[in-house]
Amino acid sequence: VLDTLRALVGADHVLVGADTQRYCDDWTGRYHGAARAVVRPAGTDECAGTVTACAEAGVPVVPQGGNTGLVGGSVPDSSGRAVIISTERMGAITVDVLAGQVTVGAGAVLSALQDALATTGWEFGVDLGARGSCTLGGMIATNAGGTRVLRYGSMRAQVIGVEAVLGDGSIVSRLDGLMKDNTGYDLGALLTGSEGTLGIVTAARLRLVPRPNARVTVLASLPSLADALALSARLRATVDGLDGIEAVLGDGINLVCQQAGLTAPFITSPAVTVLAEWAGAGDPPAAFVDAFVDLDHLVALDATTRERLWAYRERMTESISRVGMPHKLDVTLPFDRLAAFVDALSGATSPHRVYVFGHLGDGNLHVNVLGPSADDLSVDDRVLALVIEHGGSISAEHGVGRMKAHALGMQRTRSELAAFRAIKHALDPAGVMNPGVLLTDVNHDA
Ligand code: FAD
Ligand code: MLT
Ligand code: ZN
Repeated sequence: VLDTLRALVGADHVLVGADTQRYCDDWTGRYHGAARAVVRPAGTDECAGTVTACAEAGVPVVPQGGNTGLVGGSVPDSSGRAVIISTERMGAITVDVLAGQVTVGAGAVLSALQDALATTGWEFGVDLGARGSCTLGGMIATNAGGTRVLRYGSMRAQVIGVEAVLGDGSIVSRLDGLMKDNTGYDLGALLTGSEGTLGIVTAARLRLVPRPNARVTVLASLPSLADALALSARLRATVDGLDGIEAVLGDGINLVCQQAGLTAPFITSPAVTVLAEWAGAGDPPAAFVDAFVDLDHLVALDATTRERLWAYRERMTESISRVGMPHKLDVTLPFDRLAAFVDALSGATSPHRVYVFGHLGDGNLHVNVLGPSADDLSVDDRVLALVIEHGGSISAEHGVGRMKAHALGMQRTRSELAAFRAIKHALDPAGVMNPGVLLTDVNHDA
């Protein structure tokens, strides 16, 4: 297989041995695998050749973009059998200003797309803290969410069409950017969120959103989660142009101050620190300003101050990783169950240290548990069971990956899993695409 791959992509782009190491360790430090090789195709045809060669030889394929995924889906298992296909040489970006769309190679990095759009009058509707490394292909594969979902939706809402290599090596391509095209199944939507288990996205056509000329960010101190949720509902109901509502719960704000070297934003540490952002033309509506009048709060009107306020929320991820290897449980709850869920968390996670933050406007919390060893699933399972008990989802935006594959049966019914397997079998008949991720031998509870 390696000789075939070298002939296909060039020997320089088939890495082996120590050169594969950085592709085998995940961002969180919880998952460490081994690979037979890392292949770096230059485009869709080389990618198709690579998948075909692997499928014929029964060699597992792990697609990888920026390797910022948080559920262990971007790295292989420890058998050393897999070939990682890295999209790092596939980073082209072509903006279509007339259409308000962009065509990207799967390996294009989000911040490169943001830079390419800077003077076009358009911007991209999904933003997240890993913007300097995560790729558009990886974001499609995980259906990434981030901080603007309440306004523009997750990645699936941005995808107009994709080009992809399916598990049998065949190429499907829909990059024409037609806004209306009701000619059968939407393969782009199906591949979005498929976590590399059906094929490799090699390029995509994405919608763009209007570029606002003003942004106003507020960081506020709230006395309880119930109050923070009431504020969030008020903002969502009354503020046109609301771009995000984020939150850091409890002691998380002290951790980020210590670990990221930030000054405490408020004299008294808040029960919940809420960050809200409005973006649009001119000044924010009175409803946005009025919502904070009775609260202790800070306002950012310029880019530097804005960055300073966002740091309290965005630097939570690195701050937690500085003090230990977290079990990162990304979950959504119905809004009316969020407070009860958080109240019950300490029981489910005791005696471990827990930090909770997330996308309050989406009902999406990131529960980070420090203490248990990497392969200890007991705390994960207790938190996920609590999520199910409260009517939530065990994965809001990070995906299922390796981390939650064993737990998918808690959430999805027998019929849904049968449909998933039928789709997997049809698109990846040799079963080589990202084995062990998303679909595995699921213990079925639902
Ligand atoms: P990788 O990590 O390389 O891969 C992720 C998954 O997609 C794997 O299963 C992989 O096999 C598959 N994959 C990658 N590329 C392809 C492709 N071209 N075709 C098919 N499958 C592919 N996520 C959010 O949703 N919201 C956030 O707010 C957020 N913030 C983050 C902040 C930080 C600091 C970090 C480290 C991560 C954050 N993430 C967030 C998680 C992560 O950035 C996203 O999941 C992102 O979409 C992963 O992109 P990637 O290119 O790094 O993909
Ligand atoms: C975030 O919202 O900051 C991310 O999803 C990353 C994380 O969960 O740590
Ligand atoms: Zn998040």
